[in-house]
Amino acid sequence: MSLRGDMAAHTDEYFEKNEKRSGYFTHKDTDFGRIDRAGVTEKQIDAIYMAMLVESFIPVYTEMLLHMRRFRAPSDEFTIIWAREELLHFRVLRSALLALGVPERKLEFDVDKIRSTRNWEEIGRIESPFGPLKNEIYPLTNTMIQEKSTEIFYHSLANRVEDPIVKKILKQLAGDEARHHQYMYKALKLHLEYDPGGWPAAMRAIMEYNMPGHYQMEKYQEIGSEAAKTAGVDSKAASKEIRDKLFEILGWKVIPAGALLLIKKRFSKPPKIIRSTEINFKR
Ligand SMILES: [Fe+2]
Ligand SMILES: [Fe+2]
Repeated sequence: MSLRGDMAAHTDEYFEKNEKRSGYFTHKDTDFGRIDRAGVTEKQIDAIYMAMLVESFIPVYTEMLLHMRRFRAPSDEFTIIWAREELLHFRVLRSALLALGVPERKLEFDVDKIRSTRNWEEIGRIESPFGPLKNEIYPLTNTMIQEKSTEIFYHSLANRVEDPIVKKILKQLAGDEARHHQYMYKALKLHLEYDPGGWPAAMRAIMEYNMPGHYQMEKYQEIGSEAAKTAGVDSKAASKEIRDKLFEILGWKVIPAGALLLIKKRFSKPPKIIRSTEINFKR
């Protein structure tokens, strides 16, 4: 048995399950024309718009990830399938927003703006403490938290939106994010089994954690928390859920949550944004 062998089996299992998954949503399965504008509030459209922009970054982000993981099969192989799914998220949200009356020119303009954000150095710093490819634990921890957060966000927003088609889209997105989270959870677990001394990298990822929007959009703090409020995300319950998942993996090595928060406050300065993108949310 080897880490590479176990990871390959884990990734194959993911591929296989996905191939068989019925109801994998595509444009063909969704009647965007039947979306009822009255069933989605202005604020909810803003929240969906923010999510669409974050998802739209995927081609740029994938390029960075593939470069970073270029010698790390099967993590790099998983990245390709994962990117396809995230790209679908962007495409489906884009179509939903157009059906909700967002002008196409504005949407395309903002997507281009987001994709031209050059925060490579900032995003790429996740490999910096260990050098390229020496440690997969940091990015796995980071992505695991990220996927869980987006799952919670889409799930909460789906519960609030009244239009049944948009609701269904958001639920499907939440399901995808949940599966991504599960993949990362097990991958991280495997990595820590083979490298029990690797846990400080996970701790560091927890302490330095930021949502991806942070590296993309100016004033993301406000935009993101407004979107979470609109979605009705119970942030206390959400952090507890994320913390519990990390506890499951790291066990006794994780210092109590209160201390973690203190450390986060003291040591985690907001990342320096090299050139973030200002988005005008007025349509
Ligand atoms: Fe996504
Ligand atoms: Fe995801």
